[in-house]
Amino acid sequence: MTTAVLDVYLTEADGQAALRADARAGLTAIPKVLPPKWFYDARGSELYERITELAEYYPFNAEREILRERAGEIAAASGAETLVELGSGSSEKTRWLLDALTEAGTLRGYLPLDVSESALRDAARSLAEEYPALSVHGIVGDFTQHLGRIPARGKRLLAFLGGTIGNLVPAERADFLHSARAALRPGEQLLLGAGLVIDPATMVTAYDDPSGVTAEFNLNVLRVLNRELDADFDLGAFRHVALWNAEREWIEMRLRATRRMIVHVAELGLDVPFAEGEELLTEVSAKFRRDGVRTELRAAGFELTEWWTDSTNRFALTLATAL
Ligand code: SAH
Ligand code: AVI
Repeated sequence: MTTAVLDVYLTEADGQAALRADARAGLTAIPKVLPPKWFYDARGSELYERITELAEYYPFNAEREILRERAGEIAAASGAETLVELGSGSSEKTRWLLDALTEAGTLRGYLPLDVSESALRDAARSLAEEYPALSVHGIVGDFTQHLGRIPARGKRLLAFLGGTIGNLVPAERADFLHSARAALRPGEQLLLGAGLVIDPATMVTAYDDPSGVTAEFNLNVLRVLNRELDADFDLGAFRHVALWNAEREWIEMRLRATRRMIVHVAELGLDVPFAEGEELLTEVSAKFRRDGVRTELRAAGFELTEWWTDSTNRFALTLATAL
């Protein structure tokens, strides 16, 4: 049977320490905030997969359409021997790239990197079976910390799909792009998926679906804190909120306390007071314009070489070359 290699750059102990630090800082901040990477335990990754099946969540289908149409061009332009994918999740859309790069005859290896060990293991196992000639090497890691450790096997294409770049705030985004550039050699390429600024109602509905899957995904971060830090969040006392911040051009997901309460986080020895109506910011999902993407890439040492959009102009896939 074909098997995939799995390396762990982010150990459970590192993950625990990072969660403790983020929870302590974020729950004592004003306003309260938690980084979105903590959504993705096994249940959170499954809920994200369910989000991608929702009619309202257009980014997934829009990016898939572009990949389906453009995978051949991407393969020809990159000539990649190794496809590295950050925040790869189930790697579902990646199959378009793997097929095109295999057909082009250049591809030798696939390196998916994700914080979610469960999602990574499942994806790596399936892909190793589906692509027996491909070396599949999964990395449990954090794309804000571990880009410098990505192996340099042959010419690489670094893919960051799904619009996950939008889950970083501008300073984090600049750091990320600089680290991505530093990890690549001149001439290697970055394939970047980004949601575009469109009408607010369509964007908000994508993050506030009537079936409540996104609400469950949002609340999942509280389950993670309850389990990992022995906290006592009452999930029934928080309501999912999604709104468009027109000034920052990003969607904000928040959890709003529906009553006054004190939450105990036993592992941190922390009591966290919530006022009725107080909100905890759990995710931003920035949307982009072409000029902004080009400028941010330029500042990090990339040249935007291709910009493809889906047929509804809601999502863009960018190919950028490391200068
Ligand atoms: N690329 C897939 C999945 C996007 S969901 C798609 O386009 O559908 C976001 C993925 O990024 C999840 O699998 C999550 O576990 C991962 N992720 C979030 N923050 C991360 C971080 N800091 N480092 C590595 N992976 C991260
Ligand atoms: C992973 N990321 C790009 C998703 C997004 O659209 O920002 C996460 C998500 N949050 C709510 N729905 C999906």
